[in-house]
Amino acid sequence: MADARTPGWSRRAVLAGVGAAPLMGFAPGREAVKGDGSLKDHAGRAGMQYGAAVRASLLAEQPDYRAAVTRECNIVTPELELKWAWLEPQRGQLSFTSADAIASFAAATGKAMHGAALLWHLSIAPWAAEALADQPDWMIVRRFLASVIPRYGEVTHTWDVINEPMDMGHRMDGLRPSPYLAAFGPDYIRRALEDARLYAPRAKLFINEFGLDYDFPVERDKRYLLLKLLEGLKTSGAPIDGLGMQAHLELAKQAHFDPKVLAQFFDDVGSLGLEIRISELDVKEANGTLATAERDARVADAVRRYLDVAMANRAVGSITTWGLSDRCSWLDSPGGKAGPNRGLPLDAALRPKPMYHAISEAYALRGG
Ligand code: XIL
Repeated sequence: MADARTPGWSRRAVLAGVGAAPLMGFAPGREAVKGDGSLKDHAGRAGMQYGAAVRASLLAEQPDYRAAVTRECNIVTPELELKWAWLEPQRGQLSFTSADAIASFAAATGKAMHGAALLWHLSIAPWAAEALADQPDWMIVRRFLASVIPRYGEVTHTWDVINEPMDMGHRMDGLRPSPYLAAFGPDYIRRALEDARLYAPRAKLFINEFGLDYDFPVERDKRYLLLKLLEGLKTSGAPIDGLGMQAHLELAKQAHFDPKVLAQFFDDVGSLGLEIRISELDVKEANGTLATAERDARVADAVRRYLDVAMANRAVGSITTWGLSDRCSWLDSPGGKAGPNRGLPLDAALRPKPMYHAISEAYALRGG
């Protein structure tokens, strides 16, 4: 098992390991071969990215899944493997094996890796949550950031530094009462961004958030207060480059989808000079009473309506789905409470569904 003392992951080592031939023309996040009709092909021609959340275990165990990710994506997000609880289950015992495997896969197949997520209340290592509750020592956070961020600097050019900082109903500023907020107050966000900038001077730094997509009062409040947060960060000169819109859509909420409201929000974020990544797109549906074709059509329709708005705004440069195939969706996990779900671009046999075409047509709106 790798630990903090093993040499850092490096693309050069990967290249030496796999041989340089298939990697001619390598450029992270860019597609070398064009015209195969894949999502990365469409994205690349639009000057954009298409990515999926991936798991190291599936890449290792399922060659057809690995081939599909290789074919479709020009960026990949580790679904679990970069999260604190995963990387450092015990204080000081860092295990980079799975994250390194994804970084190596990305480098060997000419993809970028998106770094998700550094500080997230749900993935903080339990020992760290306890330590921070005991004593608000920023060095605990800094040591983690310093051990992870530089290690993947060659392949990771975008990081979610803070994930899900907002939660309505607790405070006037809408900040979530997380272990980080409890220990350091609202300033933890700026401090984390500044440290991330220190360890990744050229990377783009994002705040990633969910529950911003529909016209419900709680989502309206969240959009408003998140904008205030972003505006404050920009005004104070904090190193923030963009917003990740998770975009976990739900068919049950589609009646509350208002393209004008979403477009206004994208405009407001873009006007702050921030980029927007659609970072975790999927659709919760699971309606066993409908025919499969109807379910797939509804999913694709929700995605099309969303991406029509997204593509109209030049601040949006990247779309990642939270998984690639219905074979493996977090919505089917016990915590997801929605399975069996058909809310990803490929079906369980890795065949493209209407959602896949909705995404490729979205890139076409930008010339892809
Ligand atoms: C989820 C993973 O998909 C699950 O497998 C894991 O058990 C929990 O985390 N929002 C996020 C992602 O920002 O990191 C979450 O990923 C899904 C919701």
